[in-house]
Amino acid sequence: MNLFFEGSTRTRISFELAERRLSADVVSFTTATSSVTKGETLKDTARNIEAMKIDMVVIRHAAPGAAHFLSRVVAANVINAGDGAHEHPTQGLLDMYTLKQKYGSLEGLRVCIVGDILHSRVARSNIYGLTTMGAEVSVCGPATLIPRDIEKLGVKVYHRLEDVIPKVDALNVLRIQLERQKSGLFPSLREYHRFFGVTKEKVARAPKPITIMHPGPINRDVELSADLADSEHSVILEQVTNGVAIRMAVLYLLGTAN
Ligand code: CP
Repeated sequence: MNLFFEGSTRTRISFELAERRLSADVVSFTTATSSVTKGETLKDTARNIEAMKIDMVVIRHAAPGAAHFLSRVVAANVINAGDGAHEHPTQGLLDMYTLKQKYGSLEGLRVCIVGDILHSRVARSNIYGLTTMGAEVSVCGPATLIPRDIEKLGVKVYHRLEDVIPKVDALNVLRIQLERQKSGLFPSLREYHRFFGVTKEKVARAPKPITIMHPGPINRDVELSADLADSEHSVILEQVTNGVAIRMAVLYLLGTAN
């Protein structure tokens, strides 16, 4: 069962493809067409789904901890497909796999995550995964979008792209969450693009080509210039392709672990 309480293109479709390729019977649920619109809670929704003898639930929810909560109230295996600003584990895995495919190993690889680290579940899952695998991880963004004490997770912090670009193999560029723009965390999209937008001109100053990643969806010419997103240095669509294989692996391993 794919239980998506938030919008998704890549994660929802790739989970569904992965499930079908493994011959699962798949049911997909979106909030708009469910009884959640009548006020049904997550717990009641889950218990009713379980009563239909579902073996695995893939959940995306705006609340951090939603997947963990669900795993405590249903017997089915639960896979986190993104919970608020907390974690997006399969995105972290597919990002790491994409880098491993390109470089052969993650040990010592220098990766910088750029942008809105504060609200990013992708950043957290990448930091945990990459540091575990021995990569050198840094983050770069305006001070208002970098969580306090993030260094405790084993990352270096930069506030100027110019300082970090010469020192990395890959940049994982995060989406600027336009819905948070009104909260005044940066003055304007134009100013953000000028200082933190990753462009061909900025990465051309690096001593060697930098791999460009983005979890999607991209705000073209805000956090990442359109020409760089579509350039030979971009692995953005490889990330999407790898998402299907990674999700197949996660489903298979969970399914055979019982
Ligand atoms: N990367 C990612 O989670 O994209 P979607 O929101 O489209 O699933």
